[in-house]
Amino acid sequence: MALHIIDHPLVQHKLSIMRKKETSTTEFRTLLREIAMFMGYEVTRDFPLTYEEIETPLMKMNAPKIAGKKVVIAPILRAGLGMVDGLLSLIPAARVGHIGMYRDEETCQPVFYYYKMPAEKDRLVIVTDPMLATGGSAIDAIRRLKEDGYTSIRLMCLVASPQGVKAVSEAYPDVEIFLAALDEGLNEKNYILPGLGDAGDRIFGTK
Ligand code: PRP
Ligand code: URA
Repeated sequence: MALHIIDHPLVQHKLSIMRKKETSTTEFRTLLREIAMFMGYEVTRDFPLTYEEIETPLMKMNAPKIAGKKVVIAPILRAGLGMVDGLLSLIPAARVGHIGMYRDEETCQPVFYYYKMPAEKDRLVIVTDPMLATGGSAIDAIRRLKEDGYTSIRLMCLVASPQGVKAVSEAYPDVEIFLAALDEGLNEKNYILPGLGDAGDRIFGTK
């Protein structure tokens, strides 16, 4: 299992503000976008470089540029959308797919309602979702992507429970997980504790 926890002080400080119950929707959304950008820095850290000859105003040089796979950002709707703009500001040429699913409130099982990804399957997919609770949504999303032909997948979440990380990494040990925080656990409704509440409602102001 490859688990990366982004413990940069700016990320941790911003996350603490997001967790506060009095934080407004406007502030929550802004902070999520900013954290996603910082996290994107780590998610892309191992991207391979190639070199091309360029000319500065003074001389020629071999300058590095990103090589390798192109990127698809794939938010799990709705809450994953809140991390897309931050990543796009780092990787402006990335494609954006959409994976529409929600967690049934009775059964806690994920229900698909939309799926749209680019045609090329040789891209690196960065799945975004702020909350990794039981892991059910992420596992179903990854399964769907693999069935569709994607082989290179990373999962970027804000907050996770230990159960969610275990479930995803047992189901898909090849999928690297990036988090801002690994929390204590889940409550009886499978909300992350201490968590930050319902991420979708807090991003979109629907509660
Ligand atoms: C939340 C969250 C994850 C899922 C996590 O979405 O954004 O997708 O629950 O739970 P799990 O790990 O137990 O599957 P939700 O179903 O509330 O939908 P929303 O984003 O539309 O609010
Ligand atoms: N979904 C959320 O938005 N928050 C949680 O704590 C768990 C699932």
